[in-house]
Amino acid sequence: MKTQYKQLTIYYFSGTGNAKHCAAWICETADRLGIKSDMIDISKTEVGSIIPPSAGTLVGFCSPTHGFHFPEITRKFIFRFPSTAGADAFVLNTRAGVRLFKIVIPGLSGVLHYISSIILMTKGYRITGLIPVDLPSNWISLHPAIEQAGTEIIYEKQKIKVTGFAEKILTGRPVYRALYDIVQDTIISPVTLGYILIGRFYISKSYFASRKCSKCMRCIKECPVNAVSVVNGRMFWSWKCESCMHCMNICPERAIETPHGFIIAFVYIVSITSSSAITYFITNFYTGPYHSWINNELISLTIIYALALPFYFITYRIMHYLMRFRIIERIMTLTSLTHLKYWGRYKAPTKF
Ligand SMILES: Cc1cc2nc3c(=O)[nH]c(=O)nc-3n(C[C@H](O)[C@H](O)[C@H](O)COP(=O)(O)O)c2cc1C
Repeated sequence: MKTQYKQLTIYYFSGTGNAKHCAAWICETADRLGIKSDMIDISKTEVGSIIPPSAGTLVGFCSPTHGFHFPEITRKFIFRFPSTAGADAFVLNTRAGVRLFKIVIPGLSGVLHYISSIILMTKGYRITGLIPVDLPSNWISLHPAIEQAGTEIIYEKQKIKVTGFAEKILTGRPVYRALYDIVQDTIISPVTLGYILIGRFYISKSYFASRKCSKCMRCIKECPVNAVSVVNGRMFWSWKCESCMHCMNICPERAIETPHGFIIAFVYIVSITSSSAITYFITNFYTGPYHSWINNELISLTIIYALALPFYFITYRIMHYLMRFRIIERIMTLTSLTHLKYWGRYKAPTKF
């Protein structure tokens, strides 16, 4: 197969290994085709120090999908990436593939391909590949981890897909597979905005370390965005956390949990206080038409949770402080679903 490239450079971000695997598969294909390749971890790279890629280079960006977009670390990296005079680029996102009755149900990419392509094109890149890859969901705060056998079946299929994609783009045949999803991607775009402006900050504070924590500090040392620190002798997650799930899945003691009980209590308190506040506001002050923004559930919910965010940060701090008391630590742990033995942790298979 003939290639037009002398160099392939892939910039990747990966919480639990899925996007890193995709980057590695593409580099393996490049090596087979005799193209020099490099894989560079976005979280360990200063974007300002990157030399603008020249013609004959293919630049790739591989990263997971978070809230129907790339996580902030990848978004900022692409935004600040140097311009080019003649290099090509591709964008690959890993998404949550769910296996149901032997079929892999695809995840949702949202707007990431469109926004990343526009940014890269304005910097002079010719886009030659846009592809979503459905690898196992790592979001174990939300659902139990997919068992290893299922993970391997998904990996086998997706490796073939990524290798085929790599062969095509490296030999000058563009692939725009991501554009097939344009309808559903556009429909969910308002959710992306809600996630970026509000949701991700809530999610950043959805971890705690139980008494099983041995203070090995692996979560602190390996956090790609330096969001974990020790506060008052206990692990603390700052709002910078990208929720990449790295810490939770690598913790050797399985001590990192999601405080489901605490989150449910918070949502319950917000919903009852906000509905009384809205009723009071409408009854006493509001004179506008009935079908106004205040009666639009999505808009009013967004406003309520935006206003409640500082309150959530404060209660997270209080919860963190109170966890020094054994009874509180026990309540937090026992009301966490991630504490259940069968819930498990996500491990990207090593054999691929
Ligand atoms: C906070 C968070 C948000 C996510 N949002 C999405 C999403 O919007 N769409 C989707 O298909 N998958 C979503 N996922 C699943 C991941 O994108 C998916 O598991 C990915 O393959 C993980 O890649 P990594 O191992 O390289 O981090 C989300 C996962 C997390 C932890």
